[in-house]
Amino acid sequence: MDFCELAYRRYSVRAYKSDPIEDEKLHHILAAARLAPTAANRQPFRLYVIETARHAETLKRLYHRDWFVQAPLVCGIAAVLPEGWTRRFDGVNYAVVDAAIAFDHLILQAADLGIGACWIAAFDPAVARELLALPDGWQPVAFTPIGYPTDEWREKIRRPADELVTYL
Ligand SMILES: Cc1cc2nc3c(=O)[nH]c(=O)nc-3n(C[C@H](O)[C@H](O)[C@H](O)COP(=O)(O)O)c2cc1C
Repeated sequence: MDFCELAYRRYSVRAYKSDPIEDEKLHHILAAARLAPTAANRQPFRLYVIETARHAETLKRLYHRDWFVQAPLVCGIAAVLPEGWTRRFDGVNYAVVDAAIAFDHLILQAADLGIGACWIAAFDPAVARELLALPDGWQPVAFTPIGYPTDEWREKIRRPADELVTYL
């Protein structure tokens, strides 16, 4: 799919089949995340592939939506703050930005394969730390189900370009 078409066709999937994801497709999805650019190439993130059925009870506590546990897999990403590049002028750490870019690569690659996903930030971070066994300094950033959709693409609702873009 042409990139603009992919950006248009990807949508937040909130209903999934339980059908398994083929290993080769999962490999492509994870490879796309690994190829993402990161500040100073620090790659300060770790990805987690979670079998929904094995962790269903914890996942239900992580994010309280029925559709969150419908897909066979859930992926999560954590930013490793001590590995992140920090801007010397103001000390801003870009590890969370790096993790977000990698996660969006993952989600776009899934969409290109016809596999649904949905960015989830409204999870309980304490449950995320427990599930992923995160050390201090590692920050859970996002989760998504990975599964075949049963809902339908919706027309995009976006601010007009002239509200979002400033030409100087
Ligand atoms: C950083 C981020 C966090 C999000 N968190 C949630 C979430 O917790 N739950 C949810 O249902 N959708 C979540 N979304 C999905 C957005 O609601 C969705 O992307 C937006 O409404 C646009 O719709 P679309 O993705 O179908 O184009 C999140 C999206 C982003 C980028």
